[in-house]
Amino acid sequence: MEGRRAAARDSDRDPVISRRTVLGGVLIGGAGLADIGLWRYRSRRDPSLGAAGPATEPQPLAIPEIMDGVLHDGLRTYDLELRTGVSHFFPGLDTPTLGINGDYLGPTLRIQAGSDVRINVTNRIGAASTLHWHGLHLPARMDGGPHQVIRDGETWSPEFTVKQRAAMFWYHSHMVPHTGRQVYQGLAGLIYVEDDETSQLNLPRDYGIDDIPLVLQDRAFNGDGSLLYDTGMRSRMMGMRGDVMLVNGTVRPYFAAQTDKLRLRLLNGSNSRFHTLGFADGRAFFQIGTDGGLLRHPVETARLTLAPGERAQIIVNLGDGRPAQLRTYQTPVSGQMGQMMRRMMGDDLVFDVLQIRPEAQRRISGPLPQKLIALVPPDPTRAVRMRRFVLRMGMMGGGMMGGTGSERGMMGSRGMMGGMRGEGGMRGGFTINGKEMDMNRVDETVKVGTSEIWQIENPSMMAHPFHIHDVQFRILDRNGAPPAPGERGLKDTVVVNVGERVRLLLDFVDYADPDRPYMYHCHILEHEDAGMMGQFVVTAR
Ligand code: C2O
Ligand code: CU
Ligand code: CU
Repeated sequence: MEGRRAAARDSDRDPVISRRTVLGGVLIGGAGLADIGLWRYRSRRDPSLGAAGPATEPQPLAIPEIMDGVLHDGLRTYDLELRTGVSHFFPGLDTPTLGINGDYLGPTLRIQAGSDVRINVTNRIGAASTLHWHGLHLPARMDGGPHQVIRDGETWSPEFTVKQRAAMFWYHSHMVPHTGRQVYQGLAGLIYVEDDETSQLNLPRDYGIDDIPLVLQDRAFNGDGSLLYDTGMRSRMMGMRGDVMLVNGTVRPYFAAQTDKLRLRLLNGSNSRFHTLGFADGRAFFQIGTDGGLLRHPVETARLTLAPGERAQIIVNLGDGRPAQLRTYQTPVSGQMGQMMRRMMGDDLVFDVLQIRPEAQRRISGPLPQKLIALVPPDPTRAVRMRRFVLRMGMMGGGMMGGTGSERGMMGSRGMMGGMRGEGGMRGGFTINGKEMDMNRVDETVKVGTSEIWQIENPSMMAHPFHIHDVQFRILDRNGAPPAPGERGLKDTVVVNVGERVRLLLDFVDYADPDRPYMYHCHILEHEDAGMMGQFVVTAR
């Protein structure tokens, strides 16, 4: 079933990451790794310590090709081909990968809001796949979810109208239960939707010059350069994590800035790792956008956390002419269990993300607008009903967070190995409202033209990024408190921290289809593959 040529090599061994974690942060990669110098690219506990070993040459940041499509029968048409390829992340090493129109990742599709589009997706990876338009509002049969399988050699051609505001969306494989593996190998890319309201703002928008997409993905590698997709217990539990950061597929990237402001469009494209971003010199930046659009006002901050699937747009000021190192910091976790989980996972790894080098001659970008777009606060009184979604992990159970006595504890009746399905084939465990994903079961039915409140509850021991297809929602509150300023925009993925109850306001509009469901799921891809996913249909009134 899986494309063998490009498949990441499984390993019975632990990935190197764990070996180092056990050694308390000392960088020992094992002889094989040291021989080929791979260890030099790996993350470090604290970049300021310079613990990553001898300096290696940074590489220019890869910028995905931009595609504007061609007009065909009144439809803006894009041709995509899923392929197997070979990437060169490290000098002298071949890494078998998957890509779209290339060896790794895919082109950035640029679409004007209001356009009617057709995307021809041809699958040539030697295995079944899908391509899902994450964040786009469209009919369920165009969604590219697990029901729109494209068999090897076939072409799937969804058509839809882009009825959204300017934002960065993305596309990726949704081939349950191999989503995690296929995305890990490279089946993902970006979508820029542009509109007039945003184009009139004085914001950087020269693609690849001052409007820069950054796809953040941590990856693990075997000594021969092949990707290591670990299906061992820990990776399935916590999600697959690596100790090398790829940014648009580049290891240790730098970017030469020709302007005094940069707009960075960030996607956390990792399978499971949260990334908390900031600059090494402590400089603040402005967040201007969320998953589904711009914010009303720029929000000044020095740190930004993105969970898998989430996006943000930020403006970085380079007016002082000094280099700026974008890096990651430890993501704050709450409670003792959270800290324990982090230690277990070696989750204190932090990474250099992008070295920004301002050129001596820089174009002046002009002042950042104080007002961005019109966005009314969400009004919960228009909701016609409330639904609850309770996220659980079988192995470590719920029950830690004030759950009921019927929940399985850490060493519950099914034991530590109690549950997990997904690639390894074990059963049970990752559930929403006590149910694992079943392709043949519709979990929720909503009516088109109505609004609802969805309350997501997390009694498990890890934070989960909850993603809903078709809608851009608004966050009402977290445990009753209003969302942070950087979350007050359109969202399609929301972090639900341990012990949290997050309420969302959703509008279901335009498309009804009683026979084809949309998905909602945890965007830790190994959790999704293991069953933490459900289906809803939107029906006519
Ligand atoms: Cu980004 Cu259901 O996916
Ligand atoms: Cu999606
Ligand atoms: Cu999860």
